[in-house]
Amino acid sequence: MEEELLRAAIKAFHNAYAPYSRFKVGAAVQDKESVIYAGSNVENVSYGLTNCAERTAIFTAVSAGSRQLETIAVVADAPVPVAPCGACRQVMAEFGIKRVIMANLKGDVRHASLQELLPEAFQADLRQE
Ligand code: THU
Repeated sequence: MEEELLRAAIKAFHNAYAPYSRFKVGAAVQDKESVIYAGSNVENVSYGLTNCAERTAIFTAVSAGSRQLETIAVVADAPVPVAPCGACRQVMAEFGIKRVIMANLKGDVRHASLQELLPEAFQADLRQE
């Protein structure tokens, strides 16, 4: 299952649109029913509009009707596995992601819980169903 998630993240990595930073990232998220949704970073000439791979994958899942997410894998071509940015961690918390798998193209893999990466996440009971 982890291999399948990593394969999906690597596939998305190759679709990354990163002409400005030249730093491609791929992500894949698995929901409670084990369905996988993938995404890549998508940059813009107006740099601040960039969407990270993790959020692209999560938004793809949510847009498809899946809100109960479990595990996310993130892959980049870096010397060590990259950890998700703070904004993406908060979005992960929103949809219940518990486990984060970080990997690079060399095959190094690191595991962390979202609790470890984002202790004391902002939680407010203001969401609409
Ligand atoms: N990026 C991600 O896609 N995920 C992260 O967790 C960190 C950064 C992207 C944003 C930008 O396109 C590029 O990596 C360099 O920051």
